[in-house]
Amino acid sequence: MTAELLDWLNLLVRWAHVITAIAWIGASFYFIWLDLSLQQPSDEKLAKGFAGDLWAIHGGGIYEVGKYASHPTPMPTRLHWFKWEAYSTWLTGSALLILLYYVRADTYLVGNNRLIEDPTLAIAASIAFLAFGLACYELIMRTAIGGTVKRQAFALVTLIVLASALAFELFAPRAAMLHVGAMIATLMAANVFLIIMPSQRAFIAAIEAGNKPDPQLAIRAKHRSTHNNYLTLPVLFCMLSNHSAFVFNHPHAWALVPMISAIAALARHYFNVKHQGRDRPAILVVAAILFVAVAIGASLTKAQPLAAATGTVSQTQVQVVLSKHCTSCHAQKPTFAGYATPPGGLVFETPADLIPQAARVISSISTNYMPLANMTNITPQERAVLVTWVSASD
Ligand code: HEC
Repeated sequence: MTAELLDWLNLLVRWAHVITAIAWIGASFYFIWLDLSLQQPSDEKLAKGFAGDLWAIHGGGIYEVGKYASHPTPMPTRLHWFKWEAYSTWLTGSALLILLYYVRADTYLVGNNRLIEDPTLAIAASIAFLAFGLACYELIMRTAIGGTVKRQAFALVTLIVLASALAFELFAPRAAMLHVGAMIATLMAANVFLIIMPSQRAFIAAIEAGNKPDPQLAIRAKHRSTHNNYLTLPVLFCMLSNHSAFVFNHPHAWALVPMISAIAALARHYFNVKHQGRDRPAILVVAAILFVAVAIGASLTKAQPLAAATGTVSQTQVQVVLSKHCTSCHAQKPTFAGYATPPGGLVFETPADLIPQAARVISSISTNYMPLANMTNITPQERAVLVTWVSASD
């Protein structure tokens, strides 16, 4: 019952998270596009205080959009703010983190041969990891470390590489990659909460008090919102690649994650430059070449399948290993607490069940991903039995 309830809750929260994230990223893409696409306005509009304008057609309507150099006079009675997209994405994401990784910390958060073995300690480490990441980012942005745009970019990349290396030491691989994404997403939500919103509130308050607003306030908000724009694709990569076990199970996953994230940010740069009217396809070509290079490098250095057991392996031997180490979870009716249905929809009750999933079985057994957190204390010999059988029948 509890397992089924958790499944439904999980479905609901995951759905809410994806919907809010689409709204947030959509708003980020739209406003960056808008800002970079603005044209020189007519003299009449310049006189009214406009800095740029553009025309667009969407859904059968023609829109005229303009941006003020500072602000209109008088101020409009209704001004739309964009903050709940960010807050609700972060809140639903945190709820999902708790539901998946904290409620089942022993299976999902704690990894094999990692620094932390205790589930409660792992939860504390997860919270500290996210908070520490945010503290480092703010330190970079508020001190001379991030004094110039170049320095900021360099410091941010270094932070993400170090965070990734640390996460893969602390947590199970899948949880580690998710934590890199969650840390970046936390910086982004904090950018809205700590910098963008307060700057905008101070800007509006100055206007309402009849003072000239400090242009630095607008510049600071814009700066953080540009950071957020570049970070969207790396976060999406970390969140969605949970479905690509070969990435987080790679022996050098800690390096793959920041490399692919950087390529994603580079691809984003192409679009931002293009919105300004400069088409530089070379940026996308470089991103594509780097992606292929990373893929080739990763496949050359991936974990070698376990050495096959000597001699042949009998069906009975495989059945023994399955019953002992797999069927508590991977059965039509799992007996392992917390699973109402077979995880991943995968049932491994007989040796023949393994064959259609041969590649995934070899990869998850060779890299120690399965059984999750080695809950069943499988031995290397037993792993070899499975890999030998599956490889021979493949
Ligand atoms: C404690 C429960 C548990 C045990 C025991 C367990 N698994 Fe899993 N397994 C899971 C869960 C949960 C998933 C889905 C993980 C995910 O969503 O990435 C999974 C996923 C898999 C996958 C798919 C991985 C991929 O590429 O996406 C394979 C293959 C697999 N298990 C094989 C096995 C084998 C073989 C055994 C026995 C040696 C085993 N598992 C034991 C819980 C378990």
